[in-house]
Amino acid sequence: MTSIAKAPGKIIIFGEHFVVYENTAILGAINKYATVTTEKTNTDNILISSSLGQSSIKKDEDVSNVEKKFRPFFYIAKQVIEKNNFDKGIAIKIESDIPIGAGLGSSSACCVAAAASILNLFNNTDEKEVLELAINAEKTIFPNTSGADCTVSVSGGIIEYQKEKGFSKIETENEFNFIIIDSEQVHSTDKVVERVRKFKENNSEVFTELCSEEERLITKALDSMKKNDLETIGKCMAQNQMFLEQIGVSNDELLSITKEIEKITFGAKITGAGDGGCIIALTKKDDDLSEYVNTTKYQTYHVTIQKTGMQVFNT
Ligand code: PMV
Repeated sequence: MTSIAKAPGKIIIFGEHFVVYENTAILGAINKYATVTTEKTNTDNILISSSLGQSSIKKDEDVSNVEKKFRPFFYIAKQVIEKNNFDKGIAIKIESDIPIGAGLGSSSACCVAAAASILNLFNNTDEKEVLELAINAEKTIFPNTSGADCTVSVSGGIIEYQKEKGFSKIETENEFNFIIIDSEQVHSTDKVVERVRKFKENNSEVFTELCSEEERLITKALDSMKKNDLETIGKCMAQNQMFLEQIGVSNDELLSITKEIEKITFGAKITGAGDGGCIIALTKKDDDLSEYVNTTKYQTYHVTIQKTGMQVFNT
């Protein structure tokens, strides 16, 4: 049997960084996907192939010895093999149209799709198990992940997420459209999260106040999302961008992209860790942004929020 799973990337619409400190974040699954195809093999190895390369690793190898780019997938396969007392290996093929290192949840979507595809080889499609396995796999390379990216990739749609409380789906029939502008400055989530931790340590009162303001902003944004009030959502995004600037995760280039795209959209902000990566801006489906798209030096993507999360197929 060949097992195929598909999982969407994500944007953080509100609340990145603050979510690390128990605040709420709002995330949306986007129509860019990771697809993972797996099969049981007759060897003792775990075979991994992706656009980043190929590797064949003995299944009793220690996870920590595996190259970082393959580690989460090896971890998932090893866990599932051990749990099912399977005496052979697994071949894993990873394909994705989510840009890497851009804050669009590429690594999480790959982990979710891999977990779903491999568990399905053993007839398990339990979403909770997929999520737990995917988050633990991601932790082998990003120990401090809040788990938000994997959660929205499993659930799809728009979610409200808190580290301790978990997530709830925002039920809305409204369609949300965004343009994503990739600054192509590769960032390290870990480094930026660490920088924010230092900022918090050195400016604890300011940070606490910003957390409260962000929480109030999110309440307002949620209400506007349910009402499909795009003007207010856009203003909330611009406000959120100012908070991100205050905690030091923006830079001149991101700011200049934001200012430019804001002129022709409802509002814009960093999505994800910042210090590079992508800017998202809220648009209407029929908005003509072709002049911007055709003249900017940056890669742009039009995305819509996807109601469906992870999906599994057998062939
Ligand atoms: O840039 P990304 O997709 O890795 O997003 C990071 C989001 C943070 O809030 C900064 C960290 C986290 O784990 O939630």
